[in-house]
Amino acid sequence: MITGFSKRWRVPALGVFLAVIWLGPIKHGQAAEDGREIFQNNCAACHTIGKGKLVGPDLAGVTSRREESWLKRQIKEPDRLIAEKDSIAMQLLKEADNVPMPQLELSDAAVAAVMAFLKGTEQQKNVAVGTPPQYTPTIIISILLLLGLTFIGLRAGNKNVDVR
Ligand code: HEC
Repeated sequence: MITGFSKRWRVPALGVFLAVIWLGPIKHGQAAEDGREIFQNNCAACHTIGKGKLVGPDLAGVTSRREESWLKRQIKEPDRLIAEKDSIAMQLLKEADNVPMPQLELSDAAVAAVMAFLKGTEQQKNVAVGTPPQYTPTIIISILLLLGLTFIGLRAGNKNVDVR
């Protein structure tokens, strides 16, 4: 009785389980997706990622070039870094012909989202093409699901033949 009950629920339970794993990456990728939009609206006028220097430096590889805590401050309060005569900030200012990056008054959440986006572009290396890495589980599970359904379909088909 109990085993019969749990057997009945095994397939729906597996379905829910797979759905959770399947949808998980979409939520995970949301911060980076927000970050992309924030970047387009607030940063792209002065920065490219891998397409060379504009007003500010090319940000390709910046998340491995710099400390995370420094990067956060540079994005949130670049004026303070310069006021404190931070050595990296002073060097960047010199390289940018003394044009400082403006303080953009971003919220902590927006700064975190932009940083997630920058990190994501680094993992991908190529921003424009390729599937973001967080979607890999979704793709793998989709393929397994397709194979599983095909297998079940084939077995069900065989059974019918057996009955005859
Ligand atoms: C008005 C132009 C301008 C805008 C807009 C701007 N920046 Fe900058 N950014 C600069 C300049 C100029 C520098 C170098 C001088 C300095 O640090 O003040 C810089 C430096 C940086 C650095 C340091 C790069 C390195 O090599 O270490 C980072 C990171 C950065 N910006 C991120 C951002 C992000 C993220 C945004 C958007 C939220 C943004 N910037 C918006 C002009 C800009």
